[in-house]
Amino acid sequence: MAAIDLAVIGGTGVYRLANLQEAEAIEGDTPFGKPSGPVRVGRLRGRRVAFLARHGEGHSLPPHRVNYRANLWQLKQLGASRVLAINTVGGITERFGPRVLALPDQLIDYTWGRASSFWDGEGGEVLHVDFGDPYTPSLRAEVLAAAARAGVAVVDGGCYGATQGPRLETKAEIARMRRDGCDLVGMTGMPEAGLARELGLDYACLAVVANWAAGCSDDGEITLAEVLAHVEAASAGLPGLFDALLG
Ligand code: HPA
Repeated sequence: MAAIDLAVIGGTGVYRLANLQEAEAIEGDTPFGKPSGPVRVGRLRGRRVAFLARHGEGHSLPPHRVNYRANLWQLKQLGASRVLAINTVGGITERFGPRVLALPDQLIDYTWGRASSFWDGEGGEVLHVDFGDPYTPSLRAEVLAAAARAGVAVVDGGCYGATQGPRLETKAEIARMRRDGCDLVGMTGMPEAGLARELGLDYACLAVVANWAAGCSDDGEITLAEVLAHVEAASAGLPGLFDALLG
């Protein structure tokens, strides 16, 4: 299998990769079950790029039902060695308001009950991967440089708090996350990042801020319409960023 220059995992509101040409849809199976949907492999700026919609192309999988292991296994099997994950998030701290794109450099995992390791078979190998820097610094640096070349504003750094969902958080939960040091909150950042590390994949998270998290503004109720509108607006910068990253 020819190598893939970059694999992209799309989150809520990002179900296709603009400008991906001659893509073939690869349906697959893995020892961990089926991925969320087909992996679309094609060319972008002449480079081989793979795209997978994390929630399925019709958005049928909630965050706690995504088969993160199958998704990453499949991307690796197809020849990917680096993954850029797009994650829709809520913003907690000042720099991370709606429509911001951010490249976090830390995370805290509040999820539970998810299959979070490839190494949980009885009698199997036990692997404790280093995860001090959960996002690959070299890939983060490349994405930041590409964003600068493309003139797309991306906030460098921040701590992503991964919650279980699918409900949104209470104000008290967000207040606790703020005290913990979280800047962003989302439901899909883990175990994906940890699993990528276990497989030796370079991995970075491009967070798309869709709303202020609970209690962080006077906006009132968070609606799906608001989330999708902000994601669509923020995503306008993505094609230029990907062109610069791959060009
Ligand atoms: N919380 C958790 N996940 C999210 C949010 C949020 O406020 N917005 C988009 N994804």
